[in-house]
Amino acid sequence: MKKQILVVGSLNMDMVIEMKRMPLQGETVLGENLEYIPGGKGANQAYAAGMLGGNAVMLGCVGKDSLGDRMKENMAQSGADISGIAQVEGYPSGMAVIYVNEEGDNSIVVVSGANRACSIDYLKENEQLFRDSSYIVFQMEIPYKSVVYGIQKAKEFGKTVILNPAPAPDELPAEVLDGIDYLTPNETEILKLTGRTVMSMENIRAGAEELLRKGVKNVLVTLGDKGALLVNGQGSELYPTRKVDAVDTTAAGDCFNGAFAVGLSEGMSLDEAILFANTSSSIAVTRKGAQSSIPNRNEVEHVLKENIKLCS
Ligand code: RIB
Repeated sequence: MKKQILVVGSLNMDMVIEMKRMPLQGETVLGENLEYIPGGKGANQAYAAGMLGGNAVMLGCVGKDSLGDRMKENMAQSGADISGIAQVEGYPSGMAVIYVNEEGDNSIVVVSGANRACSIDYLKENEQLFRDSSYIVFQMEIPYKSVVYGIQKAKEFGKTVILNPAPAPDELPAEVLDGIDYLTPNETEILKLTGRTVMSMENIRAGAEELLRKGVKNVLVTLGDKGALLVNGQGSELYPTRKVDAVDTTAAGDCFNGAFAVGLSEGMSLDEAILFANTSSSIAVTRKGAQSSIPNRNEVEHVLKENIKLCS
């Protein structure tokens, strides 16, 4: 039996609007296309873990509405266990409005809805899943207090914690820092978390080192088409990713996190797990949408084999 990955997080229905370019403040632009696609950072990561062959289970909340039904059905198709996902009264399902421009870049606004019901009490009701899992993955689209409680519980039970700090707060609470085995911000998030404003590799590295000093064990910064930078007690290493023509970067980071958790859960080395995660997200950016873009295991294995042939 593969080690279990528990993803605790958000589920949103994404309203994806494609446009030539983003509107400026006060400006109206015409959109090219509108689609509803299951998303949410937590759900995307659980979906990726399921699609990539992980023994994945998700905790999160949707509304008692048709969007909630649709999100659960879609998640089930990935193979992730959806039995812990709650359909709650009194909140509509979470939604996200996503603008995607011609270059494939996005801007996202999340309306949390039922994700607010992912409370400490709900996590307590599902404590057994924490006990049964080896890897526990969090992001920050559910109540902040629940993330803090979840990380502390995970640590108390001796689990490996991955925190994808998205959307990034101004700083992470001191009491969780030494409970984080892998912190996986993107380049913007690491700067925000550490109060830095100028985007540069020096600042990214310095931010990561600051978080290590505060107790985080590994900082793994996703850098888009530049790959990922690992900073830990052994030093820092850049893992470049393969070049592709990106059409939509939505959920690329989520795919990376889900894949990374799968790699670790299968006993891959850190180098192998990062290669597996980079390769998975390099496929996701060539497709539109969040969960609609996430590859399955065969697709990732195929690209990995092709790349090995090219390098030999
Ligand atoms: O990371 C991409 C996700 O962010 C989208 O699916 C959207 O729902 C927001 O949560």
